[in-house]
Amino acid sequence: MIKVAPSILAADLANLGNDIQLVEYAGADYIHIDVMDGLFVPNISFGVPILRAARRITSLPLDVHMMIIEPIRFVDKFCKEGADILTIHVEADTEENIIAALKRTRENGVRPAVSLKPGTPAEAVLPFLPYCDMVLVMTVEPGFGGQKFMADQMPKVKAIRAWIDELNPTCELEVDGGINAENAHLCIENGANVLVAGTSIGRSGNIPSFIHTLKES
Ligand code: DX5
Ligand code: ZN
Repeated sequence: MIKVAPSILAADLANLGNDIQLVEYAGADYIHIDVMDGLFVPNISFGVPILRAARRITSLPLDVHMMIIEPIRFVDKFCKEGADILTIHVEADTEENIIAALKRTRENGVRPAVSLKPGTPAEAVLPFLPYCDMVLVMTVEPGFGGQKFMADQMPKVKAIRAWIDELNPTCELEVDGGINAENAHLCIENGANVLVAGTSIGRSGNIPSFIHTLKES
């Protein structure tokens, strides 16, 4: 089954609770929360207060995408404040520290995940795959919503799907960045099962029907 994770980066933050409930009733599976530190990516977005607010307003799993350096510093905090899936970037620290952060996430009862930037080769996921419940392949450079989908990331999605099926078959495979009704089928055909969508959901006139369309792509 294909899951859709609306990104609150595209929400109206003055009406965040309303927007989250809107996508929840429209059939969203996860709420995707982008955490940016201004160092790992050239932008600053949300931190713990927004996670806490989202936790109060929805029972959907919160899919927290950490675009921060040395993420182990914040694992306990984000787990305790309500993350259900905590995704860290493989580029954000040493291999040893990333594995430690994934283990720490699991010890907190939260699902660990790793993400790869567009320039990072598929093979970079291999040391982490045994510790992960999800892998996130970025289909734009992380940092901003509203960018163009990078179809050249599809071979990476396909390669990682093959490794997941072989080595960790319950692991999910998520794509994030520029996903819309035109390219969702490419992601699914190459093996993704979770689609993040921000701008395209915001622009769709009818959110329930748009989420349905993404899932049926
Ligand atoms: C980008 C973020 C994405 C972003 C996706 O760094 O990780 O989650 O919100 O937004 P769209 O769907 O607009 O590309
Ligand atoms: Zn994201």
